[in-house]
Amino acid sequence: DSIFVFNYVFILVLVGLLVPCRRFPPNFKFGASTSAYQVEGGWNADGKGVNIWDRITHEHRGLIVDNSTGDVAADSYHKWREDVRIAKELGLDFYRFSISWVRILPSGFTNEINKAGVKYYSDLIDALLAEGIEPIVTLYHWDLPVRIHDLGGWTNPSIVDWFGDYARVIFSLYANRVKTWTTINEAVVLCDFGYNSGIFVPDIKEPIFGPYLCNKHVLLAHAKSYRIFDREFRHKYGGRISISNHLLWIEPSSPQDVELAELGREHLVGRYSHAIFSKDGGWPPSIEKQMLKVSLAQGYKESRLPPFTEEEKKFVRGTADFYAVNFYATYLIRPAKPGEDPGLWFLTGSPELNAVLEHPPNVSYSFSKLIPVYPKALRRQLAWLKKQYGDINIIITENGFSVSGVHLEDYKKIQFINQYLEQVLLSIYEDNVNVTGYTVWSLIDNFEWMDGYTSKYGLYHVNFDDPERKRTPRASAIYFSCVIKNRSLNDTCLEKNYLIEQSKLRRYEL
Ligand code: NOJ
Repeated sequence: DSIFVFNYVFILVLVGLLVPCRRFPPNFKFGASTSAYQVEGGWNADGKGVNIWDRITHEHRGLIVDNSTGDVAADSYHKWREDVRIAKELGLDFYRFSISWVRILPSGFTNEINKAGVKYYSDLIDALLAEGIEPIVTLYHWDLPVRIHDLGGWTNPSIVDWFGDYARVIFSLYANRVKTWTTINEAVVLCDFGYNSGIFVPDIKEPIFGPYLCNKHVLLAHAKSYRIFDREFRHKYGGRISISNHLLWIEPSSPQDVELAELGREHLVGRYSHAIFSKDGGWPPSIEKQMLKVSLAQGYKESRLPPFTEEEKKFVRGTADFYAVNFYATYLIRPAKPGEDPGLWFLTGSPELNAVLEHPPNVSYSFSKLIPVYPKALRRQLAWLKKQYGDINIIITENGFSVSGVHLEDYKKIQFINQYLEQVLLSIYEDNVNVTGYTVWSLIDNFEWMDGYTSKYGLYHVNFDDPERKRTPRASAIYFSCVIKNRSLNDTCLEKNYLIEQSKLRRYEL
């Protein structure tokens, strides 16, 4: 008998060693995300002020493909109870949303606080907590007050103090209940894509100084709000705070491009991370060198990358309690050929690095063709972060796949989430990277910036023709709640029959 038990245990241990672990560690949390302008609507409800997205969408200049606005969006300003209900239905551990600056401070400044706006987020936070769902709050997801925009927005150094003042108001209202914060969402999109292209907020094409002034002020504003949190709130309420960075993994096109790829990563990720997460602070040295070289060659007498004073370096360094990663895409990098125009930094290439970016071969795409699906890149990206910045706690604050139309049977999105979660498990168990959270973008369909309502990221479909903005679970919602329930990548969650049966039940209940 004892031999039999011994053999049995031996086989179990062997199987355990051979089958890669598909279970998430006990401290791992699952969530979904939205942002204020993309879901709230209520654009002029109850005293809200005007932000840059209200303005550019109302001008109807053809910037948004379907000419739409976020005036009503998913109407989460009125339907937030529905959002909490579906977050609960999914079994989310947390819900990440952002606060609209002008819903709280209509002018952008602290002269007036809008009570209705304060109540809106307060009720949302309370309702989430009552359901056992942690609110993760982003202070700024691209919806700048117009008054601040008109004063130069992120290129005006005063924004550092204005952002700090706004952050202090938010912490004083909600830090007693919100324990995880991110300050600024995807600054690289805001600063680099925005100022380089001129087809995104801030709606200004100024690729020479714009991206770099914006970059520096974002880092200082982030640090300012971190220091305020640290000094004035943390001792009372606890909590943790970081910045959500957009990380696009850059691979060398050929073995000769390994160094260029590293420079590309420092250009894209390092410029928004090194100052905060590295031991030395300031800009990544390789980028400082490159920018000086390029600027002098262009006839400027100094680098276009604005320097940090020693005091500023110290002020920014160490201002994050975890690393927040928004992850979507992977590109290959190669040097531009003689006379070849590298085009727009990080869509087609980099003029500063004289390099071209291309999509990896043989990959599939979501509805958004900007996003080649290449799951292995996530693991490489996470390992790179650990190598660069040490054994820091990482939370994936966005990852997602878009479809078009109603598309309730979104099996490709299910594959996408499953494959990226597999890579998260490999990071945790094989590479010992301290990843403790994963967030799907998005909880519900929403206003996808320049793509308007044509590109749909929601686990739940939203009917934008219905005044009630009815939310209906896609198959990916069923899949994700199954993963959350099992706390592992269980094959049952992928079975079509299971997904169809469960979908019927949930859609019927609606
Ligand atoms: C990242 C942004 O934070 C979010 O606003 C956007 O909708 C998704 N990417 C998808 O493009």
